[in-house]
Amino acid sequence: MMCLAAEGMRRLGRAFVCMTLAAALAAGAQTAPAKAKAETKSASPSASELNWWKNAVIYEVYPRSFQDTNGDGVGDLNGITRRLDYLKQLGVDAIWLTPVYPSPQVDFGYDISDYRNIDPQYGTLADFNRLVAEANKRHIRVIMDMVMNHTSDQHPWFLASRSSRDNPYRNWYVWHDGKGETATSKGEPPNNWQSLFGHSAWQWDPRTRQYYYHKFYIQQPDLNWRNPAVLQAFKDILDFWLQRGVGGFRFDAITALFEDPSLADEGVVRDKNGKPVINAYGDPKLDGSKTDNQPGVNAVVAEMRATADQFASTRFPGTRVLIGETYLPNIAELRKMYGTPAKPEFELPMDTQVGFIDKLDVAAFRARLTDAESRLGGNVPLLLFDNHDNPRIDMRYGDGVHNAGIERALAAVLLASRGAALVYYGDEIGMKTTPPRRKQDVKDPIGITGWPKEKGRDGERTPMQWNASANAGFTTGKPWLPVPPSVATINVQAEQDNPNSMLAWYKSLIRLRKTVPAFERGSDIMLDTENTKVLSWMRQASGAPPAIVSVNFTAEPQTVNLAAAGAGAGLKKLKTLLKTPGAVDPTASDRIVLGPYGVYIGQVQ
Ligand code: NOJ
Repeated sequence: MMCLAAEGMRRLGRAFVCMTLAAALAAGAQTAPAKAKAETKSASPSASELNWWKNAVIYEVYPRSFQDTNGDGVGDLNGITRRLDYLKQLGVDAIWLTPVYPSPQVDFGYDISDYRNIDPQYGTLADFNRLVAEANKRHIRVIMDMVMNHTSDQHPWFLASRSSRDNPYRNWYVWHDGKGETATSKGEPPNNWQSLFGHSAWQWDPRTRQYYYHKFYIQQPDLNWRNPAVLQAFKDILDFWLQRGVGGFRFDAITALFEDPSLADEGVVRDKNGKPVINAYGDPKLDGSKTDNQPGVNAVVAEMRATADQFASTRFPGTRVLIGETYLPNIAELRKMYGTPAKPEFELPMDTQVGFIDKLDVAAFRARLTDAESRLGGNVPLLLFDNHDNPRIDMRYGDGVHNAGIERALAAVLLASRGAALVYYGDEIGMKTTPPRRKQDVKDPIGITGWPKEKGRDGERTPMQWNASANAGFTTGKPWLPVPPSVATINVQAEQDNPNSMLAWYKSLIRLRKTVPAFERGSDIMLDTENTKVLSWMRQASGAPPAIVSVNFTAEPQTVNLAAAGAGAGLKKLKTLLKTPGAVDPTASDRIVLGPYGVYIGQVQ
């Protein structure tokens, strides 16, 4: 028996339906592809322009680390343009650039001092226009990072805001009196709220004798989203980039926009003995109940969506996609981020439920993928396993022996499941997390504050490994972060002609989801649901042969019998579409043999 949460079944409600494989195959014949969202664009975009994001592979570029062209050791926009053919061959539909706006670079671009320009170390607006034009020629959209929770403390808005209490920009940020302040003492911060990057979230400003709130670094003051002028300013900023042909935005730290106006303290998280849990920065861990995911976020996102949806251009037709940085506690909260048909919000809020299980637990993956299929109201999940803030797959899922196999297995989960997929640069060649060994080498400030428990994010931001040379083909200068020793074997040049490489595996998986209808648009249906070693699922689309995927989550060979697990009658022959070397071509689904962490993908004949 298996638990079905297919497209067709969603219309009947959210209940799980368990059925045999044969019945599922029969039911699939009646399912219809997901309905396209109603669009009102004067440019009359084609269906593919409207729907491009639903099955998109979105590649995250960390511009500092991707490709340098001027020898300063930091990547730049012209470097990304130079590598577009590589990205095209990989098969990506869009690139998401982490922030490239002018910035003091305290948080490597997430502290923006001008939202309408390009930081000189990355290039110019003309370079940006060229990147977009060249990307669009290759049908690759460029997605900008939009940081609305905070600005840099060097942004003119903040400079004005902190200049005096009666400055018109004062109310653009979150200012409060301290507790117990006197003429000679600043007193205490307004409450116990903490910065995610360590210590109090309140910074005393001696000139105007108040505290300002910063969820992240001191140099990243939070904007006041209760001030309508802030909303209008960001609508205008979105428009500025939409006019330049961007394919959408990724909204940073979106769940942090609002804080509880009561300013009540947050709860302290305690261990089972009632003692406060202490975080890497030496502070008591707080529950986030007053500063994360507060009411108000959804209304802002709906406004941003309306802004993007109103944009119509014959030069740049099609949907502008809104991606959310949505680390949320559960699927129900994630569901809310899509909004409603009347008031849509994100097309693609990040689904961190699946990729951040951080353990190769088949049952957990099955449950989370089933949730993504059945509990998001028919919306498209955006799956991901890592990004510039989290160690790569090897460090979170690897066993140190089979890391490459595990990375392949999880790439199959990422790319052969229904939804859009985020691929972090370098994962497609198997780049490894390489954290700094000494505190004095750390570049990311949180790695300095938190050393040695928190080593920062340098380890997942090392230069892209283009070839085996000392600087990996990334720069002719001194790279801003060291090139890891793994460059000797893990690099694009070594992998591009090797049919068994990680790069070849990614390309094949991406090709599959672009060319086989079941992978282009099919629902996910979990199979063999009692199996704790192998995760198997079927992709099923109306009018197309179904396909099955089996992924071994263990270091031992496994044999699965999907015919028995699914009662068999509907299972006919299998045609192999893709497999890892240890997998044997089965003639039918009653005997799929998988090597350690092996993957088999076949089409039901
Ligand atoms: C999330 C970004 O991904 C991260 O890199 C940044 O430090 C914080 N938001 C603050 O903007």
